[in-house]
Amino acid sequence: MGNIIEMKDLCVNLMTVRGIVYAVQGVDLAVKEGEVHGIVGESGCGKSVSTKTIMRLHEKDKTEYTGSVIYNSSSGSEDILAMSDKRMRDFRGKDAAMIFQDPMTSLDPIMKAGEQISEVVRRKRGMGKKEAKEYVLRMFEKVGILPPEKRYEQYPFEMSGGMLQRVMIAMALSCEPRLIIADEPTTALDVTIQAQILDLLRNLQQENHTSVIFITHNLGVVAEICDSVSVMYAGRVVESGSVLDIFDRPAHPYTQALLASNPKASDSGKRMKTIEGAPPPLYAKFTSCPFAPRCPKATEICRSALPPVKTVSEGHTAACHLLNEGGKE
Ligand SMILES: Nc1ncnc2c1ncn2[C@@H]1O[C@H](COP(=O)(O)OP(=O)(O)O)[C@@H](O)[C@H]1O
Ligand SMILES: [Mg+2]
Repeated sequence: MGNIIEMKDLCVNLMTVRGIVYAVQGVDLAVKEGEVHGIVGESGCGKSVSTKTIMRLHEKDKTEYTGSVIYNSSSGSEDILAMSDKRMRDFRGKDAAMIFQDPMTSLDPIMKAGEQISEVVRRKRGMGKKEAKEYVLRMFEKVGILPPEKRYEQYPFEMSGGMLQRVMIAMALSCEPRLIIADEPTTALDVTIQAQILDLLRNLQQENHTSVIFITHNLGVVAEICDSVSVMYAGRVVESGSVLDIFDRPAHPYTQALLASNPKASDSGKRMKTIEGAPPPLYAKFTSCPFAPRCPKATEICRSALPPVKTVSEGHTAACHLLNEGGKE
């Protein structure tokens, strides 16, 4: 299987009132066609900024990009960063769709839920009014928005958080995109609803062979639904591999620390281990390993040079000075 998305040395600089934020500092990331690729890391590591770049959702005049984001489809390869605005409007929805943590940021509060999706399929797929409504009702049924006719007429404020997230999923699926980007879609929901939404996403993904990028800070969720994983730290991917590589043979000290701090069911009642300190702010480009100040294994080289990406085994890479190629410490 080929890659649907390939980020190559992607940098994203955001112009803010407090100066430039180097939110993404040279990300290499590949998502295979048809897989669920997880992106994990603590808050502020650049997960959202890097993936929003696929949809080009950053303010145009306040964002600088370098590198490339290649999108491969049956009609060839395109660099998303070089797409025309017209192509981009078509790309959003039809080629890729994004689901956010807070559905209210994407839904119109004064428009009925069903009509919002209906409007999208009429505009993007050229359906007539009646056809669009029937399509949306079938979609509601499929994603468990029940009973569909009643829900169609409801406003967002009349729905629970779990139901709104289903509306967002229905919206994302409505134009049958090849790629869905889900940015912490279950973080705001309680555990039972979270599990239902994850099951739903996984089933729909398998049914439609959609590729999915799933962003979360919850490693338990990654283990449950992802095929492969990228671990982000300070605007970079520090480790990438299959779910087994990451969970059974983590090579980067940051990944190891994340796994050690991940609460397991068997740990209930025990004090949770956490990683000391916090990720660094991104007001500068790093010239040494950004994890070194928190890393129990850091040596002189870690504090003086940026670590290169090394191959641990086939399909498994990590950016750490302390690794030899082939993964031996
Ligand atoms: N709109 C914005 N304006 C200024 N800084 C931002 C903006 N969005 C994100 N950032 C900064 O970019 C960095 C990466 O953020 P983000 O990608 O949202 O992290 P994550 O999704 O991993 O929690 C952070 O330092 C964050 O403060
Ligand atoms: Mg985020």
